[in-house]
Amino acid sequence: MSEAPGVGILGTGSYLPSRVLSNFDLEKMVETSDEWIRTRTGIRERRLAAGGEFTSDMAVAAARRALEASGTRPEDLDMIVNATITPDMPWPSTACLIQEKLGAAKAFAFDVSAACSGFLYGLTTAHNFILSGTASRALVLGAEKLSSIIDWKDRNTCVLFGDGAGAAVLGPSERRRVLSVHLGSDGGAAELLCMPGGGSRRPTSPETLAGGLHFLKMEGKEVFKFAVKAMAAAAEEAIAKAGLKPSDIRLLIPHQANIRIVEATAKRLELPMEKVFVNLDKYGNTSAASVGIALDEVEAQGLLKPGDKVALVAFGAGLTWASVILEW
Ligand code: UT7
Repeated sequence: MSEAPGVGILGTGSYLPSRVLSNFDLEKMVETSDEWIRTRTGIRERRLAAGGEFTSDMAVAAARRALEASGTRPEDLDMIVNATITPDMPWPSTACLIQEKLGAAKAFAFDVSAACSGFLYGLTTAHNFILSGTASRALVLGAEKLSSIIDWKDRNTCVLFGDGAGAAVLGPSERRRVLSVHLGSDGGAAELLCMPGGGSRRPTSPETLAGGLHFLKMEGKEVFKFAVKAMAAAAEEAIAKAGLKPSDIRLLIPHQANIRIVEATAKRLELPMEKVFVNLDKYGNTSAASVGIALDEVEAQGLLKPGDKVALVAFGAGLTWASVILEW
């Protein structure tokens, strides 16, 4: 029944920077209100990395916790896959910088770019490398310093996002086992959520800077409509591939973008909100880090017992969507 028995999550970790930016702080920066942000998004506060704290630093902090939890030494890792849209530099990959900082000399390392679906794209990639025998122990990361690409004058976007990192170590295991995966993309809607400048299409120039093309741009309403459909559909596909029904799911761990998107997804799956994990009130949308951080908090809070079925689901820029079903 299960697509891939025998590969599971050996340990998780997360890292959130200490600086808190509340809705009330944002009221002093743009024309907004705590009330608007809370009712439209569910977010109360988010974390911001320090000036000298980079995506790789947050990833390494999360990674160390996941390595410890899994009883893995950095030198035992075969593979590091890091999901991010805010790499330390456009290239080389942030995964290589993380490898060096961890001292994971044996691991091959690369980034994946799937925005908010990134952690699940990374998890799926590592899962398949392990299944194929190319790797045995893999570190999966989602890490973002979104504050570095936010236009802090744009109230449509600056209230939504935060910084952080989530990590998981994958290896042969019957516990927290991957039962099924489902991934999808629609490049036709790429412009709805993107950073237009700084790539080969519009290399950084005085004009791109003046136009603010180095900031995240989003058609919020369109992304919202897409998200509500894509999250539920992705979860349904993965649940069916695992030979399960939505009612078999003990806990849904969704990408933490907006409480209204999360509630709509739960409704479509006919899952009560008691079966849905939410932490977006504390951290906002941390893109690729979001599902990894949530997974680590679920583990830390002891919300699951062996045998429970868990659905991880995300959507993001690309557009992309992803769902992974685990048996705890
Ligand atoms: O991980 C993927 C990343 N993206 C997302 O998850 C975003 C998905 N989209 C959303 O979450 C929602 O569309 C938003 C939260 C971005 C916006 O919520 P909405 O209910 O779709 O609001 P809206 O865009 O329709 O805006 C309603 C009003 C507008 O004013 P007018 O034109 O009606 O006068 C906006 O200008 O709210 C205004 N507005 C704000 N007001 C106060 C937009 N941002 C703010 C703000 N504070 N921060």
